[in-house]
Amino acid sequence: MVKVAPSILSADFSCLAEEVKRVEQGGADLLHIDVMDGHFVPNITLGPPVISCLKGKTSLPFDVHLMIDNPEKYVDEFIEAGADIVTVHVESTVHLHRLVTHIKDKGIKPGVALNPSTPLDTIKYILDDIYLVLIMSVNPGFGGQKFIPRMLHKISELRAILSQSNSEILIEVDGGINENNASKIIDAGADILVAGSAIYNSSNPEKVIKKLKECI
Ligand code: DX5
Ligand code: ZN
Repeated sequence: MVKVAPSILSADFSCLAEEVKRVEQGGADLLHIDVMDGHFVPNITLGPPVISCLKGKTSLPFDVHLMIDNPEKYVDEFIEAGADIVTVHVESTVHLHRLVTHIKDKGIKPGVALNPSTPLDTIKYILDDIYLVLIMSVNPGFGGQKFIPRMLHKISELRAILSQSNSEILIEVDGGINENNASKIIDAGADILVAGSAIYNSSNPEKVIKKLKECI
């Protein structure tokens, strides 16, 4: 069954712990935490202190999506704060293999994210070292954007590559996902759906999570 990872980017930050509890009780599988630095993407969100504050408030695994320059400089702080999965962007480092190996050596699951225009070839030689691939289906930086339809093809291409090698790497898809397009994204090969605005802007987040999971 597909997993759902609500993104707290669209949550009410004045009562973040309650917002997290709500999606946990609503059936979320992971908590997607978007970290933005105002350099790699044109927006600023949160850092390790917020993550460590949340750690005692939920038992959901923390899926930390780093949209920052120089991720190697900060990755340990995010691990210490309580990240369970740390996903870094291919475009943000020239030493991707070193970085994912470092994350793995720390006992944390490494993920690698690709912007919409970044080809799948860029991760060809690190496929043995990662836990998930995050396919960005919007240009990173903001919640509430429209899903880029072309990304369905990218997801199915990646699914084919992984199946050929019997790989257990998970495909996570992030950006513009809602109840109307989720089934196509799952059909293309997604294992984890990230959804921010579709869940948190709804008056009934629990129902949206349930519907996303039923979209098979
Ligand atoms: C975008 C973030 C996403 C975002 C998704 O840069 O990485 O995780 O929160 O939000 P929606 O679901 O609203 O597109
Ligand atoms: Zn994200």
